[in-house]
Amino acid sequence: MTISRRKMLTISVGAGAGLLLNELPAFAQQQPQLMRAIPSSGEMIPAVGLGSARTFNVGPPSPEWVPLGDVVRLFHEMGGRFFDTAPSYGTSEQVAGQIAQEIGIHNDLFFATKISTRGGLEVGIAQQEESFRDWGREVIDLNQVHNLQDTAIHLRTIRQAKEEGRTRYVGVTTSFGRQYEQMEQVLRSEELDFFQVNYSLGEREAAERLLPLAQDRGIGVIVNEPFNVGRLFGAVSGRELPDWAAEFDCQSWGQFFLKYILSHPAVTVIIPATGDPEHLVDNMGAGIGRLPDERTRRRMEEMFDNL
Ligand SMILES: NC(=O)c1ccc[n+]([C@@H]2O[C@H](COP(=O)([O-])OP(=O)(O)OC[C@H]3O[C@@H](n4cnc5c(N)ncnc54)[C@H](OP(=O)(O)O)[C@@H]3O)[C@@H](O)[C@H]2O)c1
Repeated sequence: MTISRRKMLTISVGAGAGLLLNELPAFAQQQPQLMRAIPSSGEMIPAVGLGSARTFNVGPPSPEWVPLGDVVRLFHEMGGRFFDTAPSYGTSEQVAGQIAQEIGIHNDLFFATKISTRGGLEVGIAQQEESFRDWGREVIDLNQVHNLQDTAIHLRTIRQAKEEGRTRYVGVTTSFGRQYEQMEQVLRSEELDFFQVNYSLGEREAAERLLPLAQDRGIGVIVNEPFNVGRLFGAVSGRELPDWAAEFDCQSWGQFFLKYILSHPAVTVIIPATGDPEHLVDNMGAGIGRLPDERTRRRMEEMFDNL
């Protein structure tokens, strides 16, 4: 799909953007975002990132682009940097790339994308080239083999780009429990900067073997589906946040779910997705203030399991 840049300019950042920015809560302007070190380099990055799988797959310019422009701008304004996308997310990579270029922050964001094909070497290389174009970037910060598709082939492509200085970090992803065994083998045998996996209060299996293994091997952990694709909100629908959530500076269910993940010692970055600027502000709040300790984490699990 080709989106006319001129058309995009007229629609993606709405008149409401400035208003919303002025309404940023004081906490967001005064307190720093939680930072984590990338194990392989020591580079510090903000721990709360942004996903884009469904939320940015909105097709050609339309009114739907207006809140997405606000989401990207607010994310950056509140100290966010890590943006996760993929060429296989419909128009997401292109839409996000055009919005970021329009705002002028495309080189300031940490651009994480994927090679996402079983079509072989050439198709993977073509996807990589398209990612550079979609974001107007000369360097991709992180390229990942998506869902362990043709892992050996695409790792070669990504490593080649790293050697050429066109990609900074190498990773692999999954969000399927059935791939955990294979992922374990990959984590044990490959030199990786990052691995990405689904982990949340509703899906805790990755913490059994994969997260400790990544920590031991010095591989950064990116957590996808932190709300279990939004299902966690359904599980607590109509329930009050417990009083003790205040003990770790938590003001909403969204922050409750995200702070649970951020408090796992192996986790480097989380990538909650949203197309709603108010939810974005809420989610960025998870990177501010205290985190639950080990005892409180157990309490959160018990509470969730007894819903
Ligand atoms: N194998 C892989 O590589 C892989 C697999 C899955 C996902 N991912 C990555 O991980 C990202 C996150 O996963 P996901 O998008 O599947 O699901 P998710 O982040 O777990 O959940 C997203 C859902 O939560 C809602 N939401 C977000 N913040 C909220 C808030 N504060 N209050 C209430 N609702 C809220 C969103 O709706 P609103 O838009 O209304 O806020 C959306 O429906 C993806 O976008 C993608 O970048 C990678």
